Amino acid sequence: MKSVQGKVILVTGSSRGIGKATAFELAKQGARVVINGKNSDRLQKTKEEFDSQGLSCLAIAADVTSIDECQSMIDQIISNYGQLDGLIANAGLTMESNFEDTDPKAFKLVFDSHLYGSIYPVKVSLSHLEKVGGSVVFISSLAGLYGMPRFSAYCSGKMALTAFWQSMRFEKRRSGIHFGLMHICFVKNDAEKTLIDLNGKTTLMPPRPTRIQQPQEKIARKIINMMKYRRNRQVISAYGKLYAFIARYCRPLMNFFLNNYFKT
Ligand SMILES: NC(=O)c1ccc[n+]([C@@H]2O[C@H](COP(=O)([O-])OP(=O)(O)OC[C@H]3O[C@@H](n4cnc5c(N)ncnc54)[C@H](OP(=O)(O)O)[C@@H]3O)[C@@H](O)[C@H]2O)c1
Repeated sequence: MKSVQGKVILVTGSSRGIGKATAFELAKQGARVVINGKNSDRLQKTKEEFDSQGLSCLAIAADVTSIDECQSMIDQIISNYGQLDGLIANAGLTMESNFEDTDPKAFKLVFDSHLYGSIYPVKVSLSHLEKVGGSVVFISSLAGLYGMPRFSAYCSGKMALTAFWQSMRFEKRRSGIHFGLMHICFVKNDAEKTLIDLNGKTTLMPPRPTRIQQPQEKIARKIINMMKYRRNRQVISAYGKLYAFIARYCRPLMNFFLNNYFKT
């Protein structure tokens, strides 16, 4: 896929944040984009933003951690467009808390959003993607490279996603489907970005230092390029690349950093 012009591409979790920026950029580049989120009011507002900019999209509210809702979403896409060329598995929840204080239900909510929230959309899309030699891009994080204190659910979900991506690449190597994995670093968040607290409740995420945050639009273009040029794995930003290098080749230094510079 050297161009996304006319391609039908689903971006999960695109009513807000990185997913929304990616969906906008896809629509600007001529893709027939499908936006998704759980909250139908927020999704509708995002659709209105598309409309007001003269961009079209199909909006489908669905919880990607439910296989039935994923199936119904793909059925609607096929009935509207007759095909699916790309899937960007982006939806996911954020949580920061000590493991021992965390309600197991909250842990499961976050873990499921990253793992099953990516596996289920793939499961119901495979046959359609295979017909057109389509593409899947999984959105991961630096948390998918090395376990961090206070992020056990988030890191576990993202690391399990790495294993799923690896398995798919080998298992489906003759299918013509591309599988990419993108590790994103710190991104400028929407003001209404939320966190899951240790009881599983949704709360507003406090602002974080802006120094090393990248614009969502820049990340969106990189995600789309991964799909277009069928790249396998990528770590975004100089800081991210340095972190990945240290995680792989300088483990004592990484351990020192995590032991001394992360509050527990
Ligand atoms: N922001 C960062 O700095 C950063 C860094 C590294 C990696 N990432 C990764 O990038 C991805 C997007 O992050 P973000 O910061 O843009 O997130 P965000 O602003 O919190 O937006 C999350 C989006 O996902 C949707 N969503 C959440 N759970 C869902 C579910 N079960 N089913 C369907 N939609 C769901 C939300 O809509 P509803 O609320 O309506 O469900 C929303 O549209 C995530 O996978 C995250 O881990 C982000």
